[in-house]
Amino acid sequence: MKVLVTGGAGFVGSHTVVELIAAGHDVRVVENFCNSERWIVERIERITGQTLVLDELDIRDRAALLAVARDYAPDAVIHFAALKSVSESTEMPASYYDVNVGGTATLLDVMQQVGCKHIVFSSSATVYGQPESCPVAETAAVGPGNPYGRTKLIGEWLIRDCVAAPGSTLSAAILRYFNPVGAHPSGLMGELPRGVPNNLAPYITQTAAGQRDYIRVFGDDYATPDGTGVRDYIHVVDLAKAHVAALNALSVGTDRELTLNLGTGRGYSVLELIETFSAVVGHPIPYQRQGRRAGDIGECWADPALANRVLGWRAEKSLQDICADAWRWQQAIPGAVD
Ligand code: NAD
Ligand code: WQD
Repeated sequence: MKVLVTGGAGFVGSHTVVELIAAGHDVRVVENFCNSERWIVERIERITGQTLVLDELDIRDRAALLAVARDYAPDAVIHFAALKSVSESTEMPASYYDVNVGGTATLLDVMQQVGCKHIVFSSSATVYGQPESCPVAETAAVGPGNPYGRTKLIGEWLIRDCVAAPGSTLSAAILRYFNPVGAHPSGLMGELPRGVPNNLAPYITQTAAGQRDYIRVFGDDYATPDGTGVRDYIHVVDLAKAHVAALNALSVGTDRELTLNLGTGRGYSVLELIETFSAVVGHPIPYQRQGRRAGDIGECWADPALANRVLGWRAEKSLQDICADAWRWQQAIPGAVD
């Protein structure tokens, strides 16, 4: 298939581009590098042994996006391009709605103009807000607790409305990621947080590398086995493979709309993650317990049974794999962060 990937130089996008090419797909990327580095393209080319065609543009630039779509005539789009910081979304909500909702609307409009029939969309477990119970199935109530999460939920609605429109030939896979972590096993690609990381995994690796003094453990009084937050950490390569499986599922044509949780089905606490990283790194990584972070929830882990069944896919990599790959990447990142 000819697959147009938005945000293909980002964390999940770059790993997915590699898996798409490995599966024999033809790929073209659109990207504005607002949260990624140009040299990732050369890394993708080194891993795949193929030249990557990339157009530098903003998905909100309708004319530029339409020109690429007309020229390429993609069979499918995988839509990663978005702003993704929960805290930033509370400070600049209009920008988040502009890129995440407006950009998605522009993309869908352009897809319709060129007759592109399939979209795979990056949604998030954050749409569930505070889940009533775990594991979380797709039937659980939604209710995101921050502007970022609301832009993702509106993106889902927008896509479903386009699928349901009279005469529409669009089919969609809406993928709700739990907590993507890890890095490419080659050590050539991984997450590149700008400034102080908000997320736990890059904060741990930067602390292990001596760039931070200690990890701040946010809250130890949750109703979880050790009192710290529990999440479903999924290796980014497993996640990338799910996108290839989602494209296959859409191309078969059985379902016009799929909404799927992508997680491992197992939760780990903050302390378990720190302990596993410490074992991989070979020394204890310092941490200090602090109060809860505003907006955090105690536990959130997936019931991935539907994705397992519909996609014929499951997450295979372990927490040790996640830590080993993330640590290999941390040691290889060109230049210190911050
Ligand atoms: P990322 O920031 O690493 O990648 C997003 C890419 O999109 C970046 O390369 C960025 O430069 C590009 N981009 C942003 N706005 C753009 C625009 N207007 N035009 C063109 N390109 C633009 O993020 P990621 O972690 O790879 O996340 C990918 C997707 O998955 C996002 O939609 C995100 O909301 C979603 N998601 C991420 C997580 C996570 O924890 N990483 C969890 C759930 C969902
Ligand atoms: C994980 C656990 C923290 C940092 C966020 C977004 C979500 C999704 C993924 C995009 C929690 C604890 C964290 C730290 C800590 N993104 N923690 N010290 O909050 O589950 O999800 O990223 O869609 O929308 O909300 O991930 O990695 O920030 O936190 O103790 O320095 O680690 O309290 O229990 P989260 P996270």
